[in-house]
Amino acid sequence: MGFLKVKGVIYEPVDRVDLGPDSDEVYLQANVKAPRMAGLLVKVFAWFLESPIFGGILLYFLKRNNLIHKLVSFAELQESPLFEPLHPYKGSEEMEVKCVEADLPPPEKVQHVVECLQSAEDVSESPKLSFQRWTILDYSRAYTSGEITPRMVADRFIAAVRESSNPSLQMSFFINYSVEDIIRQATESTLRYEQGKPLSVLDGVPIALKDEIDCMPYPTTGGTKWLHKVRHCTEDACCVKRLRLCGAIIVGKTNMHELGAGISGINPHYGATRNPYNSRKITGGSSSGSAAVVAAGLCPVALGVDGGGSVRLPAALCGVVGLKPTFGRVPHNGILPLNYTVGMVGILAATVEDSLIVYAALSGNLSSDSSSMTMPQVCLPLLKSANYMSFNIRMARSGKWFDDCTDDIRDCCSHAIAKLSDKYGWKTVEVTIPEIEVMRLAHYLTIGSECSNSIAAHQEKILAEMGWDVRVGLSVYGAFDSKEYLNAQRIRNRQLQIHNKIFSKADVIVTPTTGVTAYTIKEDALKTGELDYINGAALVRYQIAGNFLGLPAVTVPVGYDKSGLPIGLQFIGKPWSESLLIHVASAMQAICTSGSKRPEVYYDMLAKK
Ligand SMILES: *[C@@H]1O[C@H](CO)[C@@H](O)[C@H](O)[C@H]1NC(C)=O
Ligand SMILES: *[C@@H]1O[C@H](CO)[C@@H](O)[C@H](O)[C@H]1NC(C)=O
Ligand SMILES: *[C@@H]1O[C@H](CO)[C@@H](O)[C@H](O)[C@H]1NC(C)=O
Repeated sequence: MGFLKVKGVIYEPVDRVDLGPDSDEVYLQANVKAPRMAGLLVKVFAWFLESPIFGGILLYFLKRNNLIHKLVSFAELQESPLFEPLHPYKGSEEMEVKCVEADLPPPEKVQHVVECLQSAEDVSESPKLSFQRWTILDYSRAYTSGEITPRMVADRFIAAVRESSNPSLQMSFFINYSVEDIIRQATESTLRYEQGKPLSVLDGVPIALKDEIDCMPYPTTGGTKWLHKVRHCTEDACCVKRLRLCGAIIVGKTNMHELGAGISGINPHYGATRNPYNSRKITGGSSSGSAAVVAAGLCPVALGVDGGGSVRLPAALCGVVGLKPTFGRVPHNGILPLNYTVGMVGILAATVEDSLIVYAALSGNLSSDSSSMTMPQVCLPLLKSANYMSFNIRMARSGKWFDDCTDDIRDCCSHAIAKLSDKYGWKTVEVTIPEIEVMRLAHYLTIGSECSNSIAAHQEKILAEMGWDVRVGLSVYGAFDSKEYLNAQRIRNRQLQIHNKIFSKADVIVTPTTGVTAYTIKEDALKTGELDYINGAALVRYQIAGNFLGLPAVTVPVGYDKSGLPIGLQFIGKPWSESLLIHVASAMQAICTSGSKRPEVYYDMLAKK
């Protein structure tokens, strides 16, 4: 196909790129050339892609028309490839933190973090809010006072999950939960409280896990019908062990987009996860169920895995907090290795404080495979005493990128930032972050190659058991070659250098979390899944740096669009700067919580009878 040869872009060396506000770098909007498909159309498309002759031609045009050839495959870059976004730790210079050794046992870390949070007296002084979800400390206080027991919460939880699954709601929150296993854990926890010996404030707190994190007694399906048959779950993932050491009750495996290979959360095998704010809408994904159960009040916290925004994006669409730590901060062991250089465990929580408590429990002490790295200390933000006026935070905002979202999101997010400036005197620094769309394509190529590689051994056998949208995805993933992969890694290095320069002018980068709010689940998508790359590109628009460059990032709910669907604001930080990010998120939350609304589907786990 020589006559179709595409000329690749020749990128200027990165030190010649102007990152100032008046840079003449063009902002390239996502130029997605792929119509929405569902139902029969997806099936036909998948068949074509999988056919040896047509498939090759079709894939060629897909890559070409979506600018992958021009911007990545045939591009010329001088930067060397960077394969893994591991960042050297240079010590902490952060304000108002308490640093603890990374290898303290999890319950001790949790104890340290509780001391960093508001004391009970402060809480009673804070204004009464119209709506607020129960927090970990609320659970712990209620259990300690004997008002309610973990065993009672377990019963309520089970009743609520049953109700949410009945035909009139069909929320599809969970792929699996075991009544017996929940009750066993709750009974043990209740006993510990009776003896006055809870393991930590997490004792008896229900926590749900995305179904790609290993946890006994459940098989790990990854949202598929086959994965658990070829890969057996034989022990808890490292992060699950840490939660158990703190006494948390693991309540089950939440629904997810099949293989994490999509972000709508519509799963043809286990149902489309529905948004608690409006059950006709998607939750976003791929940690769909984890976001939805927190939004619906079933658990204060759930874990997800974030490979392309999979924690932050559903968190934003469901109106909860989503925290993705620095690459390497939380151990990988026991997580499906679908896209190992971009994906990692993240936390979905009702409040910033709750994400911090669980972050403290999970972080630190990496597996031996990362032993070449000095293990950073874990610094916990002193939220109770923080004086945000003295922080002088500089927030980098890249105008055209920031504005590339719906009017409601733009207005709401700009307003939130303006309030931060008014209240704390923080400054916005206008910058240009170039080649965002190039980074999205390079990341797509990377995550696709990694996913395709990790399931290659099984692909033949399992095709028939896969959803149609994922079959299309896997065909595209399998079409990337080594030259393209290497160029994508050169782009990774280039973007890391760009981001390092931005971080020399600012402490955090601020963006909306998504370009659109939750969209409608259409009937034709339920059985086949759907392909909607246009909405898809808008959903991941602000996510990629967190994954491709391994940077920590957090999303905080800041308001609602005109139809009442949640909007999130994202802060992206320097490597290992979680404590600063949590401080910033907490300052933002303090301004916004008074406006928070109760979702349509909500369960009150600690209600007084
Ligand atoms: C931390 O790592 C060390 C050495 O690898 C190990 O001996 C210790 O048990 C680990 N601690 C935790 C809490 O995982
Ligand atoms: C749910 O978990 C049980 C074990 O607790 C297992 O036997 C069953 O097959 C699982 N079901 C699904 C759909 O994963
Ligand atoms: C990447 O893989 C993880 C599992 O390791 C998954 O949860 C995540 O959703 C995947 N992301 C994408 C965009 O495929």
